[in-house]
Amino acid sequence: MDLDNSKNVLLELLAILIGAIAGGIFFILLLNYNSKSDSNTNVTSDIKIEENIKPVAKVELAAQIGSNASGVEKSGEQVYKAVCSACHQTGVLNAPKFGDSTSWAPRISQGYEMLVQHSIKGIRSMPAKGGNPSLSDNEIANTVLYMTNSSGASFKK
Ligand code: HEC
Repeated sequence: MDLDNSKNVLLELLAILIGAIAGGIFFILLLNYNSKSDSNTNVTSDIKIEENIKPVAKVELAAQIGSNASGVEKSGEQVYKAVCSACHQTGVLNAPKFGDSTSWAPRISQGYEMLVQHSIKGIRSMPAKGGNPSLSDNEIANTVLYMTNSSGASFKK
């Protein structure tokens, strides 16, 4: 009887031990599975982050193209495309649209010099030098010439 009892206790202990080991293995498998699915979501969020960064990278590239870092003067058309088109192509913030002579007419009537000054210093929601301080005053003047003459003006520099 005593022997039987201690056998039962041993069996019980063994059952608990096996249960604990099985539980442990299951737990480890579960952790592994979780970390795998974690790394999966990391991959997709990496892709998403990359996608989110892309347009910024493009703007930075545009700013570099528009900058005078190389020491070579950009043409009015090059500066326009790299910098000013960001607003003046679509009319963002009510910027006068490129080629739209109606919205440019009252601005053109201020005269070329005034428009160049406003472009260099900024006016209302138009940022100084289109937000790119590395552009030279001369590059801005050429760009204003290009933009206005493509939008109804016939300025000469
Ligand atoms: C962030 C948007 C933005 C960018 C970039 C930008 N502009 Fe503008 N620009 C505007 C807005 C908005 C106006 C209208 C401002 C107003 O009259 O309230 C404007 C107006 C102008 C005017 C008319 C100013 C006047 O006196 O009526 C000129 C000229 C001009 N921009 C030239 C440029 C040139 C050159 C560049 C590039 C070097 C440039 N802009 C880049 C937003 C922008």
